[in-house]
Amino acid sequence: MEQKFIPKSLAASKESGKVTWQTPSNIALVKYWGKKNPQLPENTSISFTLSNCHTTTTLTYGKRKDVKGTYDFKVILDGKEEEDFKPKIETFFKRIERYVPFLREYTFVIDTKNSFPHSSGIASSASGMSAIALCLMSIEKEININLTEEAFYQKASFLARLGSGSACRSVKGDIVVWGAHENIEGSSDLYGIPYVDGVASIFKNYQDTILLIDKGEKQVSSTVGHNLMHGHPFAEQRFLQAQENINKIKDIFANSDVDQFIELVESEALTLHAMMMTSHPYFILMKPNTLEVINKVWTYRKKTGSKLCFTLDAGANVHLLYPEIEKEAVQEFIKSKLAIYCKDKSFIHDCVGSGAKQLKI
Ligand code: PMV
Repeated sequence: MEQKFIPKSLAASKESGKVTWQTPSNIALVKYWGKKNPQLPENTSISFTLSNCHTTTTLTYGKRKDVKGTYDFKVILDGKEEEDFKPKIETFFKRIERYVPFLREYTFVIDTKNSFPHSSGIASSASGMSAIALCLMSIEKEININLTEEAFYQKASFLARLGSGSACRSVKGDIVVWGAHENIEGSSDLYGIPYVDGVASIFKNYQDTILLIDKGEKQVSSTVGHNLMHGHPFAEQRFLQAQENINKIKDIFANSDVDQFIELVESEALTLHAMMMTSHPYFILMKPNTLEVINKVWTYRKKTGSKLCFTLDAGANVHLLYPEIEKEAVQEFIKSKLAIYCKDKSFIHDCVGSGAKQLKI
């Protein structure tokens, strides 16, 4: 199957150029946690593509005079050269070189910035890797003008996955599925696809406010986290549960069942953390303020009948999900009652978005 992403001939015919993509972050509803080589998920996951949290990357490329040794690139983050990112991108390049044969033929400058604050604890790897993947695809498109739009985005997602698994869900909007599932046509372990099986309008413009509980570096890298699922005593059961939760969320989306949505999404978040707490070594990534927020959300829901719920990534930050119709009330609640649990009272309002955009700059 991967074979279809290996181009027949892709001689780097262009001398130089520059391309810019703006790519979104995403938040998983049914979580990906556990993988096989090379970056293949143990279960299907599904996510909302976000809108305001995004990465903008400009890739400048020029033909190398003599192609010796390894890749030739530098990374600039927020205007400053960043050596620390190079090993991750080098690994990414090694993984994708089969599919992007012109990689060694150019000198690249990867100039990138995130819309969310650096070290905010929001993972930039999903949006960051999908941005590089899309920029490379734009170069491929210059060389291979017959590439269809569908093939372009599918390969972009395929490449992004090889950078960071969840990055394959950061190409398209507004809901994306990654991982083969018997009840989702076209779903694949190799790339994410837009979920189009009937979604009630309430979920089309769902809101996500990210509470920045802990802004530091991630305590457990996702690579380490995924590896802990190998030999985990509950792993097989968890993977089956995720497949079943995909069936459930299909019905939820189709039937506009927000109460079931809440139950499923919160359970998924807590299960992800439960898997970390029961692995060896074990971790607790929630902070006291994570739990404060969760309890406040539950009380608020009970008192007001609100449909506000939470989900978590592999960290302490909380994503608060709610229908657009509750925007004003919930945002007031966040400002007045939850901001105190955030580092520097900081949070980011976001919502479901439509996917990556190429910028002409
Ligand atoms: O893409 P990775 O390897 O950083 O893994 C991300 C895993 C979670 O964010 C915890 C869940 C998910 O599905 O996004």
